[in-house]
Amino acid sequence: MASILSPAPGNVGVVRSINDKIYVGLRPLSTRTYVPVARGSKARPLAVVRASSEKEVPVKSSGLSIEECEAAAVARKFPDPPPLYTPQGPKGTPVVQPLPLSRRPRRNRKSPALRAAFQETTLSPSNFVHPLFIHEGEEDVPIGAMPGCFRLGWRHGLLEEVYKARDVGVNSFVLFPKIPDALKSQTGDEAYNDNGLVPRAIRLLKDRYPDIVIYTDVALDPYSSDGHDGIVREDGVIMNDETVHQLCKQAVSQARAGADVVSPSDMMDGRILAIRMALDAEGFQDVSIMSYTAKYASAFYGPFREALDSNPRFGDKKTYQMNPANYREALVETEADEAEGADILLVKPGLPYLDIIRLLRDNSSLPIAAYQVSGEYSMIKAGGVLKMIDEEKVMMESLLCLRRAGADIILTYFARQAASVLCGMKGK
Ligand code: PBG
Repeated sequence: MASILSPAPGNVGVVRSINDKIYVGLRPLSTRTYVPVARGSKARPLAVVRASSEKEVPVKSSGLSIEECEAAAVARKFPDPPPLYTPQGPKGTPVVQPLPLSRRPRRNRKSPALRAAFQETTLSPSNFVHPLFIHEGEEDVPIGAMPGCFRLGWRHGLLEEVYKARDVGVNSFVLFPKIPDALKSQTGDEAYNDNGLVPRAIRLLKDRYPDIVIYTDVALDPYSSDGHDGIVREDGVIMNDETVHQLCKQAVSQARAGADVVSPSDMMDGRILAIRMALDAEGFQDVSIMSYTAKYASAFYGPFREALDSNPRFGDKKTYQMNPANYREALVETEADEAEGADILLVKPGLPYLDIIRLLRDNSSLPIAAYQVSGEYSMIKAGGVLKMIDEEKVMMESLLCLRRAGADIILTYFARQAASVLCGMKGK
């Protein structure tokens, strides 16, 4: 008999017992995705709880019929149940009158099964979007500031990473390209080259894995010789409407290659409506827009900029990204993006901005995305490497908290690692 109960709502999938082994599956039709979990092993989906440990206490049969057992019970002669047991506190525990409490919230936290029954938020691999860095090379290059992350070769490493992520239930990806310096320019025109790195990678991925969801980043910074998300005027001003013109071409080029969701992360004004119209004009009515609605000018992006070598050559991004001190302003952006036709609203960074996630959740009916950015990832990794925190537990807790704050989906560099934990393949 399986000692695992069926999964809680929102959990990864199917739990079955075959030949007395417990199997955790993501896709019931595919045997390859069933993962044997050793009996008694701790590896199992997080939201699945074993109700009690099995005690192998054989019950000797008395050989009596049902009628004889009932007659014995009526005569008050029945086999003894286990003795009643009143657990004692340690010696020296003070003897007190029970507090006259009508409410003791700990009652609902008494056991793993009760806690699982009353859990308000769940995490599933289907909530994750996996950001992937790609480059022109053949080799995968480790990113120093982001242990465990690589610039992936678009023809090999990228496909392999997607294969592994799909195996643990992650089917959504967002691509970030490292563009050779020689292709960067002040107007970022490489961003809409149909044969550029991103469109090429999208076509390869869609050819190999037609069912995955591909998100793209729409912004000029990887293509800009100035390292800014927009075109820089000679006096340093980031030109809004001219940049939006370029972003529209970029989004259309990505859609043409097969992108499912284009994601403007540039924070120019009016870009959602302009991109929507540009996509529709080219027949891409089915391509969604995930708007970086509340993107803050944050120091938490540091490791990402190292990964893509995309640091601004001068100045900062404060004239377009939001001031971390601001809350109400996120509503101004939310109203604009909703009115302009965004399909998904994103808050970035994630954990330091839980209040903003909740604000958007409470003020919009659209799906909300949270981006657990590079700096958040690197801090958890570093804390883990230094043995200052339990990396896996902090990872899972941080993701759960983003969901609790109101995020439907989470862009996270932990996507594959966390999904592996969720489906019982710890740390793979
Ligand atoms: C740029 C972009 C950035 C990130 C995603 N898209 C960096 C920036 O705005 O400078 C950051 C992601 C991260 O830190 O993980 N358009």
